[in-house]
Amino acid sequence: MTYHDRSLKSVSSRIIPVQPFDYVVFGATGDLTKRKLIPALYHRFKDGQFDDQSRIIGVSRTRLDDAAFQKLVHDSIHQFVEAEYRDDATIATFVSCCSYVTNDVADESRWGDLGAKLRDDPNVVRAFYMAIAPDLFGPTCDYIKARGYYRRDARVVIEKPLGHDLASSIMINDSVSRIFEEDQVYRIDHYLGKETVQNLLALRFANVLFEPIWNSAHIDHVQITVAESVGAGTRGYYDESGALRDMVQNHILQLLCLVAMEPPASDAANALRDEKLKVLRSLKPIVGPDVQKLTVRGQYRNGSAEGATVSAYQEELPEDKKGSRTETFVAIKAEIANWRWANVPFYIRTGKRLATRASEIVIQFRPIPHSIFNHAEGAPRPNRLVIRIQPDEGVKLFLMIKDPGPGGMRLREVPLNLSFAETFTERTPEAYERLLLDVVRGQQTLFMRRDELEAAWEWIDPIRMGWDGAPDLPQPYTAGTWGPTGAIALIERDGRTWHEDGH
Ligand code: BG6
Repeated sequence: MTYHDRSLKSVSSRIIPVQPFDYVVFGATGDLTKRKLIPALYHRFKDGQFDDQSRIIGVSRTRLDDAAFQKLVHDSIHQFVEAEYRDDATIATFVSCCSYVTNDVADESRWGDLGAKLRDDPNVVRAFYMAIAPDLFGPTCDYIKARGYYRRDARVVIEKPLGHDLASSIMINDSVSRIFEEDQVYRIDHYLGKETVQNLLALRFANVLFEPIWNSAHIDHVQITVAESVGAGTRGYYDESGALRDMVQNHILQLLCLVAMEPPASDAANALRDEKLKVLRSLKPIVGPDVQKLTVRGQYRNGSAEGATVSAYQEELPEDKKGSRTETFVAIKAEIANWRWANVPFYIRTGKRLATRASEIVIQFRPIPHSIFNHAEGAPRPNRLVIRIQPDEGVKLFLMIKDPGPGGMRLREVPLNLSFAETFTERTPEAYERLLLDVVRGQQTLFMRRDELEAAWEWIDPIRMGWDGAPDLPQPYTAGTWGPTGAIALIERDGRTWHEDGH
């Protein structure tokens, strides 16, 4: 199904301007700000979603003046926004909305004065983005409060790593909730900002087709793959984290929630988040000997990725980290112990330096109950719905058809193929564009609530502990493959295989 319709363009280009805002970005000289936040805000500005009545106020320890920060903003647009979306006049106006305050939150004697930049007008939305390490969230909140910058309607945006286990996550959340109420806190999981991830909601709840069969009576199992071809080694943080914390605790569990949750009554933030929380709390704990049985962790050796020779994870690490047991790959057979999903495994896997960059969700339906095609060539294969998150975003529904032409009844599997690139001609917005402006709108639907985050850690912690207590190392896998053989065995033991169409 390739569907070209002019009306799609006008729907997708509808821009709803937001109220003017003061966006204060702590950590304004860091990588996240340069790579993601500035380009995202620039795109939204260029598309007319806000104008020069809004302000972006960079804050960081680095000594800069407004002009130097504006140059940083200018350079980051040139580096991270594609040429076709850059134009000098728009960039100049956008840059003129940016200013800077040098500030060291950890040292009261070096606190900067944000007061001169913030506007008191209640119609100007006030948002604080903490693009900083979590141990600075507390001191930053103290600074905001002590200097009188807090307002009950202000918003605070925080982002992973929100802890390395349940206990540390509670501490981080506590440090923020001493000052901000839960309805002011926006916890980013950037996967929720991806268009294709939001499309999961549309697919499930804006169509009548799927919901009646979205359960254990009709679905055999679900696969969630988030594969990356990039390596991990040079990011210091990664070795402390590993794939389980970096990808499963947040992104993959969020995807699993959107696939598995009950239909919420509305798209109101808490309606949706209540349903996601129920899924997280229904995940069967993986503890004790089950950790070895139901999980596989791996670490890449040297190999080749996208035509180039690449080093092993160990070789990328600094001397003092050599011998690290950190996993760069994880596969888990998860189960959701509730009425809808009893006995439907959710196989999840993610890793660095895999064969290609490909993220997708596969819903494998059960076989037809009875085949009338006894004499047909080729048995009917069970239907499969493949939701491709990135790249080549789209949805494929694999159906059985009769192979056209003479030769008797020959059955063949073909995909009904909705490719976003072929259907929509417009640029797909980056996740941060949507999320940053949802903060201004006060719309928390695509952000994680504290109890969700903690429920996710509760499920993750015993797996981590099982690994830490085990004598074995992560299984090696060659860079540029689909991970360790154990991951293949994990699913094949159940008589199933990983879906690798189009890879
Ligand atoms: C981040 C992880 O949260 O997500 C990274 O820390 C990972 O390790 C990234 O590479 C993947 O995001 P995306 O949007 O490229 O799929």
